[in-house]
This record gives sequence, structure tokens and C-alpha cells, in this order.
Amino acid sequence: MLTETIEATKIKTSLLTDSFGRVHDYLRISLTDRCNLRCTYCMPSEDMHFALHSTLMTANEIYSIAKTYVKLGVKKIRLTGGEPLVRKDARQIIELLSELPVELTLTTNATQTHDFIEDFKKAGIKSVNVSLDTFDKEKFFSITRRNDFDKVWDNIHQLIDNNFHVKLNVVAMEGVNDDELIDFVKFTKNHPVHVRFIEFMPFPGNDWKREKVFTYLEMLEKIQENFKIEKLYDEQHSTAKKYKVSDYKGTFAFINTVTLPFCGDCNRLRLTADGKMKNCLFSKGEIDLLTPYRNGADIEDLIFKSLMDKKEQTGGQNFSVPTENRSMIAIGG
Ligand code: 5AD
Ligand code: SF4
Repeated sequence: MLTETIEATKIKTSLLTDSFGRVHDYLRISLTDRCNLRCTYCMPSEDMHFALHSTLMTANEIYSIAKTYVKLGVKKIRLTGGEPLVRKDARQIIELLSELPVELTLTTNATQTHDFIEDFKKAGIKSVNVSLDTFDKEKFFSITRRNDFDKVWDNIHQLIDNNFHVKLNVVAMEGVNDDELIDFVKFTKNHPVHVRFIEFMPFPGNDWKREKVFTYLEMLEKIQENFKIEKLYDEQHSTAKKYKVSDYKGTFAFINTVTLPFCGDCNRLRLTADGKMKNCLFSKGEIDLLTPYRNGADIEDLIFKSLMDKKEQTGGQNFSVPTENRSMIAIGG
């Protein structure tokens, strides 16, 4: 019965359409669950077990599995981590994936992007998302447990100078960086960057509390008290609500996953570094694609099965009870 439904779905649309009619054309692939930083909101404070090397997809497996998704309609691929660039074969993976007819992009902490500028250009990467939660060196250390602020700062400027479309991901947390909201908006005055304030999301072990969420409405109100702002057009499937201060070079946006989930328009699928498909960032379940792939099985049916299991909103989870999930670092942001 399930196989029949899957077949019918494939024939009817030949696209990755879920049971709520959402077409999925965006795949986020985590290359590794390792990172050279230790951001408190991303990694569990204790009990972090990294995946064994042999359980990770190899570069060729990533390429081949990604190719299957592209055949099924994926048009955009984002590489994530952990930190995708800590993988020794990151360069090779970027090169392989650049052969696919997709928009290729990545999310990085920018500690190593200086070594990849030419590789990004060669691969046709135009846009890079960088995590940066503070302009303060000491606070950077207290959030990431590493002293890499200067390197990240220089690398952000280098990306801008090399004409990449740079988005800055800021996880907005009460009592941590709420006092820097205005500085981040000011940064868009002379820099063509796109700041995205992300509401702090709950993941196992990240000590999430609702009171720590600096909400979209609170942020908007505070920004409006200080600047004259304009609402910008949000593209279809965009997770960010975009604004700008008139005459500023850059823009800013809110990603309000916690207070106002935007799942109705979701087009995103995820593949973890160990080859498990997650149909949502917050899905409790996952489907192993890598083991069947290694055994020579057809993974298309498994992709459709996972897609058909996708819940209407936030993986069927309600943030008022502890979430059942991997930690963020093991999913890939
Ligand atoms: N809440 C919100 N955003 C998070 N990220 C990581 N953990 C969280 C969290 N708990 C974001 C970071 C990074 C991306 C990979 O995911 O900003 O840019
Ligand atoms: Fe590393 Fe990014 Fe997680 Fe920080 S948020 S620990 S930089 S993967």
C-alpha cells in the first residue's frame, strides 16, 4: 500500500511533494558533526559524541545521493555542519557538487574561509551564510569557547570584498547579545551584508528556555524605536522577514521559528553527515539512506517515504515540552 502511494506520488508530480502539497526543492547537506568552535546554543554542554569516520558519507557518496535528490527536483543545495570546512575533503566535495545543476551555497563560521575563496568562486558559489553573534571579542569567546573573533572578522570582510552575498546569522539571546541588536543594524549602514536575527531554538542539551528567546516582535519594536525602517519583499519559501533602514547598504531580517513558525511554505529537506534523511529540522525521526545505498538498494523510495512522513509544523513538536531531536551540531543548521 505504501509502495503504491509512493509510486502514485512519483508519477503524479515527479517532484518532492509532501502530503500537505509542499514542493521540496532545497536540500541541506551536513558534511560533518564536528566543529572547531563550541557554540553553547548549538552543542550540548556535555555528552557530545562525534560520529565515527566510517559512519559518515564519503565525498562520492554525498555526490551520488545528492544527484538522486536533484533528479527528484532539488534545485538548491546548502552545505552545513558542524562546520563544513573542517572536513579534510571539503574542497573535493564542493568541486563535485558544483557539477550538479543546482544553486550551491554554504553556512560556515568563517574561521577558514580565507583558504577557500578561489574554490568557492570556481564552484559558482555566490552567497555565504556566516554565523556571528557578537562584535565583542570577549563575548565571542564566551559564546564559542574559542578565541577566533579576529580571524572571523577579517574573513567576513574578505568575503564582502570578494563580492560574495554575505548573510550574517545572529542567534538572538536575551542576556547574551540583546544589547547588540542596534549595533548589528548599524553595521548594515556601510556594509552590503544581510543580517538575520534568528530566534534561539531548543535542541537537546542547549539549555533553552523560553525566557532566553529574544522574540521577533521585541526585536522589531526596539529597532523601530531607533531607525526608520522599510519592509522588503520576502521571496517564496524565505524563512526570513526582511527589512532595511532607508539608504543603508545592507538589510536585516528575522527568522522567527519559535514565536511564529513559517512551516506552511517549507521547501527544505535535510541530510545528516551520517546519511540520514530528516524531513524537518525538528523531526523526531530520520530515515537511513546511507546503509541501503551502500547495500545497493534504491534510495528514491526511502526519500519519498520520509517526505510523506513530514509533519505539518515544526516536526510535530511543541516547544513547551522538551524536544526529541539530535543536537543542532549533529543535524546541521
Ligand atoms: N537556535 C537558533 N539558531 C541556531 N543555530 C545553531 N544553533 C541554533 C539555535 N539553538 C544557527 C547558527 C548557525 C546555523 C548553522 O544555525 O546561527 O549560523
Ligand atoms: Fe560550530 Fe556553527 Fe555550531 Fe558554532 S553554531 S559550534 S560555529 S556549527
